[in-house]
Amino acid sequence: MNRKKIVAGNWKMNGSRSENAPLIEGIQSADGVTVIVAPPFVYLSEVWDALSGTPGVELAAQNCHAEASGAYTGEVSPQMLKDVGCTWVILGHSERREYQQENSDLLLAKTKAALAAGLKVIFCCGEPLEIRDADQQNDHIAQQLRETVLTLPEADWNQLVIAYEPIWAIGTGRTATAEQAQDMHAHIRKTIADALGTTVADQVRILYGGSAKPSNAPELFAQPDVDGGLIGGAALKAADFNGIIEAAKTTSK
Ligand code: PGA
Repeated sequence: MNRKKIVAGNWKMNGSRSENAPLIEGIQSADGVTVIVAPPFVYLSEVWDALSGTPGVELAAQNCHAEASGAYTGEVSPQMLKDVGCTWVILGHSERREYQQENSDLLLAKTKAALAAGLKVIFCCGEPLEIRDADQQNDHIAQQLRETVLTLPEADWNQLVIAYEPIWAIGTGRTATAEQAQDMHAHIRKTIADALGTTVADQVRILYGGSAKPSNAPELFAQPDVDGGLIGGAALKAADFNGIIEAAKTTSK
């Protein structure tokens, strides 16, 4: 199955106009892969002004609200994100699950709202270290998916990408081994196949996230069920992000 690889840069709460400039300038044409950039809300428009002409590059937000509009002070709707050039939104990131108490019900509501607004969704899942140490990661991830995206109809799945991000690997410098990533991605694909059939499971992209960098990306991306990466820290350095994009291109050939 030939799934086009994705490299998505999640800037998290980082950046400034002066820091963003070299990152934006550093992003080259995607050439056979999809490159997604996810800056903080306030920079979405100006990042997109600079990047919208670059082939294969798309814009993502890091969050959205579940309603289209209304009295929700401080919130941003999926329709607004679409309006300023986003085609994607990242939902279910472990930092939002932990710090903003986003649970499966809320994440499912947000996912439905985003899809209804015409956004595509990068839906994150991942286990904490104690679950990995207890060897319960497969059940944990299947449960996270069953409570959320696996309830969605088959037709929604061409707008969905899954990101597997083991929490113990995020920002820690401790990457999952290529074997650990492949095992989990295969498990995720099988879980999707069991729920929705192999047509859906075979086409869905599953990204790896957690201390991915130019040195480990080639081996991770060479795994048969790893379809690219969701990149945090390394997306904040133009050379590193480009190195990871290069790895995606090389492993796509
Ligand atoms: P990291 O973050 O690459 O800095 O580990 C990945 C993520 O949280 O998306």
